[in-house]
Amino acid sequence: LVLILDFGSQYTHLITRRIRALSVFSLCISGTSPLSSITSLNPKVVILSGGPHSVHSNDSPSFADGFVDWAQSNGVFVLGICYGLQLLVQRLGGEVRAGEKQEYGRMDIGVEKNCGIFGGKKVGDKQVVWMSHGDEAARLPNGFEVVARSQQGAVAAVEDRDRKFYGLQYHPETFRVAAHSMLALGRAWETALSGDNTFGCWGLVTHSPEGMETLKYFLFDVCGLNAGWKMEDVMDEEIEVINNTVAPDDHVICALSGGVDSTVAATLVHKAIGDRLHCVFVDNGLLRYKERERVMETFDRDLHLPVTCVDASEQFLSKLKGVVDPEMKRKIIGKEFICIFDAFAHELEQKLGKKPAFLVQGTLYPDVIESCPPPGSGRTHSHTIKSHHNVGGLPKDMKLKLIEPLKLLFKDEVRQLGRILKVPEPFLKRHPFPGPGLAVRVLGDVTEGNALDIVRQVDEIFIQSIKDAGIYDSIWQAFAVFLPVKSVGVQGDRRTHSYVVTLRAVTSQDGMTADWYCFENSFLKEVSQKICNNVRGVNRVTLDITSKPPSTIEWE
Ligand code: XMP
Repeated sequence: LVLILDFGSQYTHLITRRIRALSVFSLCISGTSPLSSITSLNPKVVILSGGPHSVHSNDSPSFADGFVDWAQSNGVFVLGICYGLQLLVQRLGGEVRAGEKQEYGRMDIGVEKNCGIFGGKKVGDKQVVWMSHGDEAARLPNGFEVVARSQQGAVAAVEDRDRKFYGLQYHPETFRVAAHSMLALGRAWETALSGDNTFGCWGLVTHSPEGMETLKYFLFDVCGLNAGWKMEDVMDEEIEVINNTVAPDDHVICALSGGVDSTVAATLVHKAIGDRLHCVFVDNGLLRYKERERVMETFDRDLHLPVTCVDASEQFLSKLKGVVDPEMKRKIIGKEFICIFDAFAHELEQKLGKKPAFLVQGTLYPDVIESCPPPGSGRTHSHTIKSHHNVGGLPKDMKLKLIEPLKLLFKDEVRQLGRILKVPEPFLKRHPFPGPGLAVRVLGDVTEGNALDIVRQVDEIFIQSIKDAGIYDSIWQAFAVFLPVKSVGVQGDRRTHSYVVTLRAVTSQDGMTADWYCFENSFLKEVSQKICNNVRGVNRVTLDITSKPPSTIEWE
């Protein structure tokens, strides 16, 4: 295991991802975790991440007392990156000072001493790296040596080979995230993961082109790790954990949303415990065109999941009638879901003569990490911006224990796992769909006129056209929004006064930031025509060309 101690860098997840991409399991926990949390994970390597702090500020986060002694006496390799290096230097008795010249951006570094971390590089060899620091190591602790310096003479890489401590002042894992290129993170990330180390983003992004090589040399040559982490092993381990957790006469429930995460989680649990898993899928009247039929077919025909479909459209829509406030709509929907889920669990209890003991949730690793970002990191969970409703919210009095079999995986890893579990490919590649469904895509009162029908039809035409154009997989999310606004049009020589709809399509890595997708003009022309010709009640189609931030992806 490679353990990453997170000190708040925006790139910390990227270190975790990059190491996993090298088939080595890595986990990330808060940099200020107590020593016992670190030692209980028994890592062979610990990486101290970068962060936005200076080691000199009062509230700068640091690793637990005793960490260095523990690492040394257990032969654990430690690599500090940027702030992590400075922390290591300071805590081991060296000195960190504000650099005379700050280093932000592309820099040349030159190797000054042979070091395993740079592979076969010789003294004098240069490489371009991405630097982003104000402070620098001014005096190294005893036992440390400089192995590379920047073109400005600052310490760029250090080692204390005997004690197995290493440090890089630059970011081997990263690429530049300047103000607006934050939005390009998604694209850049994909490219980075595909192993192409010479990518560019709008011609702007620079990074450490040999960074991945450096991480590879460090993990395999210096630390002697083996690349053996496979998704098949993850599946087997999770199944074993589930079987050890759920007693042979225990029952487990799961709310399926029709999305990738809950489906993969349920399929995995089903593989482990069979039909002691009981799933529920709720039709809340806010689903997309033919969604209920489509997902139920996949659950049944392809995945053989035991799913009860509850038609609660009337119940939801009557509660939503006349409600226009977006937060209120979300809260009502969340509450109704819980009522239905509660009723499902109680019915099950009557049938089985025993309370279900566990609830499956498709929580992913970014949610786990972001549920407690390190203090002062400035990182927030996107989910705090809107009160998100996750299907399967826990009714308070049910006292169910949670099974979260995906909680150590990133989204693309969940897809990989889904593939092994034979979840159909088109299902795995579905765009995300929000828990409150079309309620956040019909602005205002969802029961107004035939708003829901209109948005369903427009969405279906839009998505089908995207699929026909072969661009579905290049888009994070695409959908239609119903605006409670009427405009004047002329259709078939007749003056019309009909609704306006908007099309939204974005690219993103994780939904936290997003960029609007650039369609070909001919595509837009055709879709707009199709919509106006086929959807009664619409005479105007607009396109949302806003990124996130400043907008959110959904309109409510
Ligand atoms: P926003 O609109 O906040 O959305 O930029 C970011 C991502 O989250 C999805 N989303 C939700 N997902 N429950 C969910 O499970 C929700 O309440 C919810 N609201 C937004 C959204 O579709 C996008 O992928």
